[in-house]
Amino acid sequence: MNEGGHQAVEHDRYKASSFRAYNDKLPERYDTAIALRILRPWVADNFVLDVLGTELTRLRILDVGCATGRLLERLAENGARMLAGSDLAPRILNTARAKLEGRRIEADLRPADAESSLPWPSGTFDVATLTGVLHHLVRPRAALAEIARVLRANGRLVLWDACFFPPARELMNACLKIHPHEGDYRFYTPGQARSVLTESAWDVVCCRRLSWWSYGICATPPAGDDTRGGLGHPRTARGLRSVGDARDGAAGDPG
Ligand SMILES: C[S@@+](CC[C@H](N)C(=O)[O-])C[C@H]1O[C@@H](n2cnc3c(N)ncnc32)[C@H](O)[C@@H]1O
Repeated sequence: MNEGGHQAVEHDRYKASSFRAYNDKLPERYDTAIALRILRPWVADNFVLDVLGTELTRLRILDVGCATGRLLERLAENGARMLAGSDLAPRILNTARAKLEGRRIEADLRPADAESSLPWPSGTFDVATLTGVLHHLVRPRAALAEIARVLRANGRLVLWDACFFPPARELMNACLKIHPHEGDYRFYTPGQARSVLTESAWDVVCCRRLSWWSYGICATPPAGDDTRGGLGHPRTARGLRSVGDARDGAAGDPG
């Protein structure tokens, strides 16, 4: 089988596993799942809030792979008003919808496979967030291209994911090659995730480990065609707040 054919088969196997987990099994118990509590996803939420700073009210934000809408809820609590979310699994989006409606938070929620197409026109959003999703993607570059498309020319991506520490990560990745677990495909080091972005011509503004198990990245999309909108900032000064001592992963792969 050629490489493309092999990847298509892998894609289906892992996506089916994601769908079973997040559509069929987890919608009602995702927020209280022990694994999620161990991973402390509020580290991701805090990173996103830190990067976006005080601009939240004027930003149109899309949370890709939003699951039950935890991050959207946090963004709304902190002043964001123009929110959208998408997820592969329609049932987990229903949970998000009920939760957000219960709190009178408006969000445009649409089911979508980010590796195929996001159901918004080009240049719709100022910010896309991708928390805990990169390790699910068999074709991350396809998803990044789609995210870049829906972002404004001077938009930004804020990404967070688990990386664990080397022996655990390598063991998990070896196991995942044999058997997908709830759609998990591959965990990256911060440096590897950074490379996935830069190889797709994204401009990585900051990349740093946030704890022994996770990292955060902010990046701006490749300079695309001029049909995307923009806020008029020069490409090198997009109002991205530098976070903590974000030395921007310049020292290479922190492992
Ligand atoms: C580990 S959960 C993370 C959810 C949430 N972003 C968070 O921070 O808790 C991964 C989510 O990504 C979604 N997902 C996986 N592959 C996807 C894809 N190709 N397109 C869109 N969503 C996807 C899953 O359905 C699931 O809801």
